[in-house]
Amino acid sequence: MIYSLFANSVTYDANSFIINGKRQLIFSGSIHYPRSTQQMWPDLIRKAKDGGLNAIETYIFWDHHEPFRRQYDFSGNLDFVKFFKLVQEAGMYGVLRIGPYVCAEWSYGGFPMWLKNTPGIELRTNNEIYKNEMQTFVTKIIDMAKEANLFASQGGPIIIAQIENEYGNVMEPYGEAGKAYINWCAQMAVAQNTGVPWMMCQQSDAPQPMINTCNGYYCEWFTPNSPNSPKMFTENWIGWFKKWGERDPHRTAEDVAFAVARFFQRGGAFNNYYMYHGGTNFGRSAGGPYIATTYDYDAPLDEYGNLNQPKWGHLKQLHEALKLGENVLTAGNWTDKEIVPGVNLTTHINGGESFCLISNTNKEGEPVNVNLNGGVYWVPAWSVTLLSGCNKEIYNTAKINAQTSLFVKKQSLSHHHKHHKSAQLTWHWAPEAMRDTLQGKGRFRASQLLEQKLTTSDVSDYLWYMTAIEVNQTKKVFLRVNTTGHVLHAYVNRRYVGSQVGTANQVGFAFESPVYLTRGKNTITLLSATVGLANYGSFYENKPTGIAGGPVQLIGNDNSTVLNDLSFDTWSYRVGLNGESKRLFDPATHHHHPWRTTEAPINRRMTWYKASFETPSGDDPVVVDLLGMGKGHAWVNGNSLGRFWPSVLANSNGCGDCDYRGEYNPNKCVTNCGEPSQRWYHVPRSFMNSDGNSNTLILFEEMGGNPKGVSFSTVGVAIGCGDAYEGSTLELSCHNGKIISGIDFASFGEPIGKCGSFVKGLCDSNISVSQVEKACVGKESCSIDVSANTFGSVNCGNLTKRLAVQASCA
Ligand code: GAL
Repeated sequence: MIYSLFANSVTYDANSFIINGKRQLIFSGSIHYPRSTQQMWPDLIRKAKDGGLNAIETYIFWDHHEPFRRQYDFSGNLDFVKFFKLVQEAGMYGVLRIGPYVCAEWSYGGFPMWLKNTPGIELRTNNEIYKNEMQTFVTKIIDMAKEANLFASQGGPIIIAQIENEYGNVMEPYGEAGKAYINWCAQMAVAQNTGVPWMMCQQSDAPQPMINTCNGYYCEWFTPNSPNSPKMFTENWIGWFKKWGERDPHRTAEDVAFAVARFFQRGGAFNNYYMYHGGTNFGRSAGGPYIATTYDYDAPLDEYGNLNQPKWGHLKQLHEALKLGENVLTAGNWTDKEIVPGVNLTTHINGGESFCLISNTNKEGEPVNVNLNGGVYWVPAWSVTLLSGCNKEIYNTAKINAQTSLFVKKQSLSHHHKHHKSAQLTWHWAPEAMRDTLQGKGRFRASQLLEQKLTTSDVSDYLWYMTAIEVNQTKKVFLRVNTTGHVLHAYVNRRYVGSQVGTANQVGFAFESPVYLTRGKNTITLLSATVGLANYGSFYENKPTGIAGGPVQLIGNDNSTVLNDLSFDTWSYRVGLNGESKRLFDPATHHHHPWRTTEAPINRRMTWYKASFETPSGDDPVVVDLLGMGKGHAWVNGNSLGRFWPSVLANSNGCGDCDYRGEYNPNKCVTNCGEPSQRWYHVPRSFMNSDGNSNTLILFEEMGGNPKGVSFSTVGVAIGCGDAYEGSTLELSCHNGKIISGIDFASFGEPIGKCGSFVKGLCDSNISVSQVEKACVGKESCSIDVSANTFGSVNCGNLTKRLAVQASCA
């Protein structure tokens, strides 16, 4: 373990950060500690380091740390001090983004609900009550960090801290109070005396000494608001997040590399990938509304912690290449010249050393040949070439020499029946007990339709709204419920009448259904469910959720006359499910045994399911396939896997074409069209028993589903492909202790196609396969010198030769 005994000084100027007197480029990546598990942290951090990063960034998640006022939780996956210690042990820096408003697709942007429920409070503005709470929490975090010597000034890893988050994007409606607030944030932060610099992102009026920084897909044109501040790209969105009902967004490795290279070309000092590992929105932490449980983000480490190739490898090589120019790039001495429209040569100089970058920002067209210092460089559209010493091409953002990996999900079988392996689970089940709510019996009343999250304090997704109406004759009417979402189920006189869900694009909706009222008293029972609370925008915290205000009405058969407006009748309320208060999700606390062993019902609403399963063998990450289920929440041994909703499908259009050229947007390069928006759910290995037996999977199904198809799989690399240009080194690896068992394809020459379907081109070295076999088979990883030294001379005319390889892992 490397614990530095000495204070590390962190200073900066317009050109770079200067750590212990040495100018350094900072390559950072976001890994949010609660989106994985403690057990995963060391591996994620190591892979980040191997990927060429020297810093790890995380937000701090207030709602999880202080779920009730002054009751703190920093245990388990919330142990941010331990997380930063691991970062330090890996020899990396830390970036601490406190917020404490964090956005982050995290429920309610990270604010705990008690905060909003504090009388007289207004969030993120010049309000004394809010500022006191914010200061108390920020001070608590900083004190914990100081106590653990986490700041660089104390010999720790943290080199920079952030206060607030993108307030500049939303501050206008707050007027003068917003300006006063952001000034107060700066003063409050500085007074914390951390001994390291502070920053504010997307805050062009950030008061000194706050460094204002840029978030986005591209930040090369950004300039900080002080001539003394370094140029920082705090969120380089490496992909995008997914909502329920959306396709899987991808951002190509070529385009991310282009954005990074452009940024350093134009004097960048610090680049942070948002995210480097996105992970999982466990529990009810997903923001919203409608943010999915996966937060994969198409990050270099996928949701499960596997390398997302070729992105991980392509960026690793970029970091290595930029690092070769570090002394020159951090000197701040550069000139830029346009060679032909859209093609620029930027020359960085430091003493006798030089480093050049040639960018071609044209979105299409033939590669441009650039002559420089006696060499000719071929720069494709939308790419940047890096030249060490301004005379040797060491990297081009559009030329990928990194491995591609194809992952397979391997179903894991259990030995439930003697001599018979099966993926099928044996289910027990229990109905959600609804006798009380269906009869209109709640726990408290109000003569109005209450706002959901303030009423539940967000301890559950569910709130029951119940009322009764007397009629003097039996009749058919329409029940109309206006709700701000996100899901509604309606019952009249104990009978289910219908459900409706909103979508990410249309959050509120009006539910309408014919209902039969009988003479006398009729009970109306409405169950409203939230699917992640809003996390972004000016005053987002005031966006209503649930049937807040309604109206709830009975409409005549003409479909327009309002017969009764029930909005101000007496409503009875019940927060959460009976199964939640009985902790049916937690096998450790099963005092009651509601579980039935009769055949598990299919397509039954409001149903709990339980099955036991064996821990899948090996080290590969584990997922549970919930195809067939509707919507609900899943737990393994009492640990929440998050919400599931495989019955909602991703839009069926727009998959296919993916051109890395031109500006990225999240509708570009999508996959998974028409498929369940999220079918597989991560089961971290630490959630399961290591002795392999008797784990308990529990599902709460809200809409009706079929558990028969539920099964567990491991996710591992089955095939590794490499495609590299002559003159580079191709590295292949199978990961997680697997070895390269065979070479299915290898051709040095002019191979065609892509991973999984390579074919030989017109020219080819006939020792391609044998040379690659010699270098790789039987090894966990190998590297191949892609040149005539390895493959002999091959005549391909004046084409640039490439090596393509497809290897199997076992
Ligand atoms: C930014 C925000 C991040 C995250 C990101 C989108 O605006 O600062 O917290 O929400 O957008 O993933």
